[in-house]
Amino acid sequence: MIGEETTVRSVGVELGARRYEILIGPGLVREAGRHIAPLAGGARAFIMSDETVAAHHLEPLTDSLARAGLASSAHVLAPGEASKSFGELSRALDWLLEAGANRGDVLVALGGGVIGDLAGLTAALMKRGMAFVQVPTTLLAQVDSSVGGKTAVNTRQGKNLVGAFYQPRLVLADTATLSTLAHRERAAGYAEIVKYGLIGDPEFFDWLEANGAGVMDLDAGLLARAVARSCEAKAQIVARDEREGGLRALLNLGHTFGHALEAANGYGPGLLHGEAVACGMCLAARYSVRAGLMADSEAGRAEDVLARAGLATRLPRLSGGPYDPSALLEHMQQDKKVRGNALPLILMRGIGRAFIQPEADRADLLDFLQAEAAAE
Ligand SMILES: NC(=O)c1ccc[n+]([C@@H]2O[C@H](COP(=O)([O-])OP(=O)(O)OC[C@H]3O[C@@H](n4cnc5c(N)ncnc54)[C@H](O)[C@@H]3O)[C@@H](O)[C@H]2O)c1
Ligand SMILES: [Zn+2]
Repeated sequence: MIGEETTVRSVGVELGARRYEILIGPGLVREAGRHIAPLAGGARAFIMSDETVAAHHLEPLTDSLARAGLASSAHVLAPGEASKSFGELSRALDWLLEAGANRGDVLVALGGGVIGDLAGLTAALMKRGMAFVQVPTTLLAQVDSSVGGKTAVNTRQGKNLVGAFYQPRLVLADTATLSTLAHRERAAGYAEIVKYGLIGDPEFFDWLEANGAGVMDLDAGLLARAVARSCEAKAQIVARDEREGGLRALLNLGHTFGHALEAANGYGPGLLHGEAVACGMCLAARYSVRAGLMADSEAGRAEDVLARAGLATRLPRLSGGPYDPSALLEHMQQDKKVRGNALPLILMRGIGRAFIQPEADRADLLDFLQAEAAAE
């Protein structure tokens, strides 16, 4: 036990009265009870999860809660993006209301970003806000979606259009849960880790060049370090700009291209979010090179780090394609971050030097995408 204890890392998200801790390390699900019990005034925990995650990780969680004196019940959904819906939101609220849940009880999200986003919004709405804990089980959720308090459901008009900012009281990122995650999902999460290096942390990027393979192989020490550094990077940005006034937009590096790729693919299972973002970051890097902002060799380093994790860095090789340049530009313009007529892009002056370009030239962008689609 003491051995496990020493490997747990902690990152604080500094949001004043809403400050919370992200604990990172192997075995945290089995210790969840003693971390969650102090937050539960009502001595009850409600767990939301999906079938795949629940099959592997629900029992250790409920056992641990029971050992800490917390009774729990679980609401298990079908895995996949389709569960992030109004229908599931309403069913989850019914489940809580019928069980007589109170604001002092804790709602625990055990799963990836789908469960985290849905459960977070459920917690925000339940009696105007019940205590919420994230137990992220995908690499993407551990380094990205569980940090920062964005919650949402999808509607037929688009993804994440209805939601709330609602911070959890605690995040338990058990890195051992990643051993059951599909390799492709792991690589997709790794893309978001690389993103933090590219945005503002060249030393972390150098570290990933040396240690990325170990992270992808789930080396416990390297993995915990990569997750912790990523959470720190996101927490720092969120603490300075909780509601995305400006700085937080940097977290969208690779995402304007990425969202366009996902939209062109119809958000189907053929292209994962992280795969789209990886390719999107490479596009942002090469567009930065083309604009004379970034050295070609630096863009090459970004591509190499992603390619070594098995991620596609070139448009013609990206799964779910082919991708039509005009359709991509169209989707980029429809991205919800576009205000008025301006098409903002996150570009780079080098590795770790991302910035917000308020307005990209559409004709030039189309020309660039055409060249990218035609390149080998
Ligand atoms: N709130 C935010 O700030 C934010 C940020 C990024 C992404 N998101 C959202 O996150 C979602 C994507 O998250 P995701 O990639 O985690 O997807 P996900 O939750 O769908 O999980 C991916 C798949 O992995 C399975 N899985 C999860 N953990 C597992 C484990 N330990 N072992 C085996 N299988 C496991 C799931 O059942 C699912 O099939 C999207 O809806 C996106 O909009 C939110
Ligand atoms: Zn992302």
